[in-house]
Amino acid sequence: MALALRDIGADDVPQIVLVGFMGTGKTEVGRRLARSLRRPFVDVDRLIEARAGKSVAAIFAEDGEARFRELEREAVREAVGLPDAVVATGGGALVDAESRRLLLASGRVVRLDARPETIVDRIGSAADRPLLAGLDRAARIAKVRALLAARAAAYGAAPDAVVTDGLDIDGVVARVRQLVGEA
Ligand code: S3P
Repeated sequence: MALALRDIGADDVPQIVLVGFMGTGKTEVGRRLARSLRRPFVDVDRLIEARAGKSVAAIFAEDGEARFRELEREAVREAVGLPDAVVATGGGALVDAESRRLLLASGRVVRLDARPETIVDRIGSAADRPLLAGLDRAARIAKVRALLAARAAAYGAAPDAVVTDGLDIDGVVARVRQLVGEA
């Protein structure tokens, strides 16, 4: 098998993988972190959409969550193959056993956390978040709490965490850089 030049020595620089619930800032933090470290950036949800040719909301509506998780697994597999990238995952990626295994094996995994109220305020109408769309604020907070409880064990597999309540994007980026030794 031919070895691409860019792969030589690439394992000296592990990926940085951002996980955590919706609305914790994974995409914005990841984009800014990648730019500051001059690394490639991959947002797994955008990769899913590019490969499927439709939005996450459309995949949930037309094909269902189980199909979305399959597409997510394929996108995670593709993303972990890009050496030295900063990878932002969707909030449910760690829940799938295979996606979790791939992500934990691929580099330094940092979880972004936030209180349910912060999450709901950040995601606004949640029109593009099918798991929370169409609910009023109180129902959204209740659903976030229930999902966080159901996902506690999966998220616990990524113990290095940054609590993002009260921090702006640059503040979170600085904390992530400290955690991964790139400060
Ligand atoms: C999901 C989170 C979303 C997206 C999909 C499912 C989840 O990503 O993958 O709507 O299960 O928590 P974000 O965390 O980027 O919003």
